[in-house]
Amino acid sequence: MNPTTASSRRQFLKGTAAAIGFPTIVPSTVFGQNAPSNRITMAAVGWGMQGPGNTAAFMNEADCQMVAVCDLDKKHLESAVNTINKKYGNTDCKPCHDYRELMARKDIDAVMLAVPDNWHALVAIEALKNGKDVYGEKPLARTIAEQQAIVKAVQQYKRIWQTGSWQRSQDRFRIAAEIVRNGLIGKITNVEVGLPSGHHDFAGTADKNQVTPPPAELDYEMWIGPAQMEPYIEARIHKNWRWNYNIGGGQLLDWIGHHCDIAHWGMDADGTGPVEMKPIQADFPPRTDMWNTATKYRAEAKYANGINMIIADQGSGVKMGTKWTGTDGWVWVDRGGFDCSNPAWKKTVKRRDGDKIVEGFEAMKLGDDVIKARLYETRGHQRNFLDCVKSRQPTITPVETAHHSAIPGHLALISLMVNRTIKWDPAKEEILGDADAGKLLHREYRGPWKLA
Ligand SMILES: NC(=O)c1ccc[n+]([C@@H]2O[C@H](COP(=O)([O-])OP(=O)(O)OC[C@H]3O[C@@H](n4cnc5c(N)ncnc54)[C@H](O)[C@@H]3O)[C@@H](O)[C@H]2O)c1
Repeated sequence: MNPTTASSRRQFLKGTAAAIGFPTIVPSTVFGQNAPSNRITMAAVGWGMQGPGNTAAFMNEADCQMVAVCDLDKKHLESAVNTINKKYGNTDCKPCHDYRELMARKDIDAVMLAVPDNWHALVAIEALKNGKDVYGEKPLARTIAEQQAIVKAVQQYKRIWQTGSWQRSQDRFRIAAEIVRNGLIGKITNVEVGLPSGHHDFAGTADKNQVTPPPAELDYEMWIGPAQMEPYIEARIHKNWRWNYNIGGGQLLDWIGHHCDIAHWGMDADGTGPVEMKPIQADFPPRTDMWNTATKYRAEAKYANGINMIIADQGSGVKMGTKWTGTDGWVWVDRGGFDCSNPAWKKTVKRRDGDKIVEGFEAMKLGDDVIKARLYETRGHQRNFLDCVKSRQPTITPVETAHHSAIPGHLALISLMVNRTIKWDPAKEEILGDADAGKLLHREYRGPWKLA
C-alpha cells in the first residue's frame, strides 16, 4: 500500500503495527491527536478573493496543514506563501506555478481550489486523478459538460468532494430548508431564487479598460487556459473575470450555487433538475463589451412534480435569496435575514445595517415534535470537509449536489441566449429536440487543453 493519503497512511500505520506485533489501535498518547500521521496535508490553488478565506479556515483546524500553494500570478503566490508560513511560524509551505506539478506531489492529501470558472474542470480532474480529495468552489464548472466530467472523475477515483456552497453549513439556511422539507408550508408550488443584478467592480479596475501587455508577474497565456485567447485588459482579469462570458457566467452563475443550492435543499431536489426552462427577459450587453454578462435576467423553470421556479436578478421582480411558497405558507431566507408566513417559526432580532440598528427576523429552531426529519448539520463547512476526508462519508455539499444546484443556472442562461423554451431530461441530462441549444452545454476548448 502506498501511504499517500491521510486515511491510507492511517491504515498503513495500523497494518505495520499489526505486522510487528503491536496492537492495531495506536493510542493517541503515542502519536497524539495532531501527530503528523493524523494530519491532513493540503494545498491551496488560487489565491485571489476566495482562496485566502478558505485557507484561513483550514489553517484554524489543528488536524490540517497547508503545505503548498499554487497561483499563476507571482504577487499572489508570494502573498500566499508568506501568509501561510507566518501562520505556522515556519517555511514549510512551498510555492508552485503549474497545478499539474502540485497534483503530482505524493505528500498532499487534499486540495482547496479557488480558481476562475474556466479552470474548474481541468484543475479538479487533475487533482482527482492524482488521488486528492477536493474542496472546490461553486459553481461546479463553467458548463454542464464540464460539471459532468468532474462528477464522473469524483465517482471514478472515489474521492471526497466538498463544494464552497457554505450556506448549507449555516443554521439559518438549514432551519429554513428544514421547515420546508418537513411540509410545514404544505405542498411546495413556487420557488423564487433571487440573485444580484448588474456587474460589481470587485477589483476596483473598471477604469483599467484598455488593451495593454500583460504584467510580468502574470502568466496570462495559462490564465486564459482552455478559454478563448483575448487581448489582455486588466478590468476583466482578477476578480472581475466573472463579468465576461469567456471566463465566467455573470451574476447568474456566480450565485446559482448558493441560492438555488438552498432552494433544492428545501425541495429535496439534490438529485434532479427542471424539465423545462422558459426565458422571460435578459439584458445582455453587446458581446464585444469588456463586461458582457447579462445585467438583468429572468427565466422560469418547471419541475416534474409541478413546482415552478423563478430564477431572476433582484431588479426583475424577486427578492435576493430563496423563497419557497406552498399551499399552507411560505419561507424566505438570505444572508441578510429570514422571514416566513407563520410567527411561530421566527423570532425578532436586532441587526446592524451599515450605521443603523434595524429589527428583523431570525429562524426559530423548532422542536422534534414538528421537525421530524432533520437535515445534515455541520460544525463548519471546512471542518465538515476534513471530517469527511477522515470518515470517507459524503460531505454536506458533495459533487452531485453541486452539479444539480448549478444546472438550473446553466439552463436559464442557455434558454436566455437562444431565446426560446428548452426541454431538459434530468435523468439523461440532455436538452431535448434542440440541437443548437444543446451545443451550449459545452464550450470549445483552446488547444492544447482538452476535457478528459
Ligand atoms: N463560496 C463563495 O462564497 C465564493 C466567493 C467568491 C468566489 N468564489 C469562487 O471562487 C473561485 C475564485 O474566485 P475569486 O473571486 O477568488 O477569483 P480571483 O480572480 O480573485 O482569484 C483567482 C486566483 O486564481 C489564480 N489562477 C487562475 N488560474 C489558475 C490556475 N490555472 N492555476 C493556479 N492559479 C490560477 C489567479 O491568478 C487568481 O489569483 C470562483 O469559482 C468563484 O466563484 C466563491
